[in-house]
Amino acid sequence: MHTPPAPFTGVVALDGPSGTGKSTVARQLAQRLSARYLDTGAMYRAATVAALRAGVELDDSVAVIGVVELAKIEISTDPTAVSVHLDGEAVDSEIRSPGTTAAVSAVSAVPAVRAQLVAAQRELIGDGGIVVEGRDIGSVVWPTARPKVYLTASPEARAGRRAGELGADVATIAADIARRDRLDSNRAASPLTQSPDAIELDTTDLEIGEVVDRLVELANAVTNSAD
Ligand code: DC
Repeated sequence: MHTPPAPFTGVVALDGPSGTGKSTVARQLAQRLSARYLDTGAMYRAATVAALRAGVELDDSVAVIGVVELAKIEISTDPTAVSVHLDGEAVDSEIRSPGTTAAVSAVSAVPAVRAQLVAAQRELIGDGGIVVEGRDIGSVVWPTARPKVYLTASPEARAGRRAGELGADVATIAADIARRDRLDSNRAASPLTQSPDAIELDTTDLEIGEVVDRLVELANAVTNSAD
């Protein structure tokens, strides 16, 4: 009889900019590995919703910290039922709104906000068995993650994918992606960077399924080398 593979017990770090297929890949990978899934971007987005609702100036980092410290951000790690709650209320649509997306780079650049959310992420990762996606997972949140993967794609492919998802035009999306890349890569606290020991995977010419297959192979190689 065919025995299903044992669930993955380690930590997969999946970093990279938006539009690389990261979220879809991470969720599918977690399901293939019978692992949990953590979308750290959703946590920064929920913190941003808290700041926007409170009406604080986003460049007033002390005020932003005050709001985020009191915010109760809860996120599920079930790849088939992804959901984030802010102060007990589901905010799954609001975290993806254009207003939140425009503000999230400012909130996620505040060091104390990052420290708070990184601590929460480490607690959620716990004993492992999880695929974690973000910008700083392999570099800051969980440096011992294996495999540690950095997804890339050409700027055209990234803008095309995001435009397809959002139903917006490619030129507007391309400008927004370039703006967020610049902010995320140039901030002082944990900028978007590729860990020297991360495996880079260019998804420009790959289907999602091909990327997932490749990552399953990498995760299985880690499991087998640990046996
Ligand atoms: O992956 P995403 O687009 O949902 O992420 C939203 C924002 O949060 C993005 O502009 C960068 C930031 N982010 C971060 O700084 N660190 C992470 N680990 C994840 C996201």
